[in-house]
Amino acid sequence: MTTSLPSLLLIGGGRMGGAMLAGWREQGCSAAVVVDPAPGAASLAGDGVTVVASVADIPAGFVPEAVVLAVKPQMAAEVLPSYARFAGHAVFISIMAGKTIHAIGAMLGVKAAIVRAMPNTPAAVRQGITVAVSGAHVSDRQKELAQALLTATGACAWVAAEDLLDPVTAISGGGPAYVFLLTELLEQAGLDQGLPPALARQMARQTVIGSAALLAASEEDAADLRIAVTSPKGTTERALAVLRADDGWPKIFREAIQAATDRSRELSA
Ligand SMILES: NC(=O)c1ccc[n+]([C@@H]2O[C@H](COP(=O)([O-])OP(=O)(O)OC[C@H]3O[C@@H](n4cnc5c(N)ncnc54)[C@H](OP(=O)(O)O)[C@@H]3O)[C@@H](O)[C@H]2O)c1
Repeated sequence: MTTSLPSLLLIGGGRMGGAMLAGWREQGCSAAVVVDPAPGAASLAGDGVTVVASVADIPAGFVPEAVVLAVKPQMAAEVLPSYARFAGHAVFISIMAGKTIHAIGAMLGVKAAIVRAMPNTPAAVRQGITVAVSGAHVSDRQKELAQALLTATGACAWVAAEDLLDPVTAISGGGPAYVFLLTELLEQAGLDQGLPPALARQMARQTVIGSAALLAASEEDAADLRIAVTSPKGTTERALAVLRADDGWPKIFREAIQAATDRSRELSA
């Protein structure tokens, strides 16, 4: 049985909050209030979504079942305490990088039901992945509501140990940026080889889009799909020898993910 989307209060309708809201809207979210003072946030209104500039403007009588915390982590101490009044009945879902359940509980009240989740921006097209961990005071029903919200924007997985959210943040939270960088680098390499700019851009974009679609449509692993493109002694094999050299992508990716994981740990401290 699928759980319908809960009534929802979204705190922060920026890049990530806005992306998730787009997914919820597509799934027929019928009652949502967004709090965001940014002038651009007003464009999120419509189809059952009300946008207000501050906590004081939340319509009286609106009782959300879920409160999604999508402000920047550095805003948390200033913003969260004014939402403690919802802690009696709502489940809080925080997507703030590096803010632990313990730290959020200290701002909302130690009994608050808190799910900590790490989504990514493909949530906007319902192709995201969110990895979540639930706090001690989250009921089974609240976990179901959180699951319904998080799967409305793509895949959702749960981990039992909160510290796993640090590598999750590094890999899937930031992952879209690495894929977009790859797209930029492919385009630049095309320009360096003398391809016309419009064609270099089209080739880079469509190669990433098409490869992702092929991966999605295939039952094979990424490694099998890579091998299928790589003829012995061919051109791709030459390029892969450079990329997979000892000081190439395997090392660079390990270091990059370690750096992001370390940064996530620093933010949690
Ligand atoms: N972007 C990602 O890929 C990603 C992935 C996973 C998790 N996250 C997490 O998502 C959270 C939001 O990141 P983001 O990239 O979406 O940042 P963002 O675009 O800056 O969005 C934050 C929004 O909150 C607004 N805001 C500021 N003060 C507020 C207040 N008092 N009440 C309500 N809203 C307020 C901001 O308005 P102003 O612009 O006017 O300040 C902005 O529109 C962060 O905690 C981040 O760690 C992001």
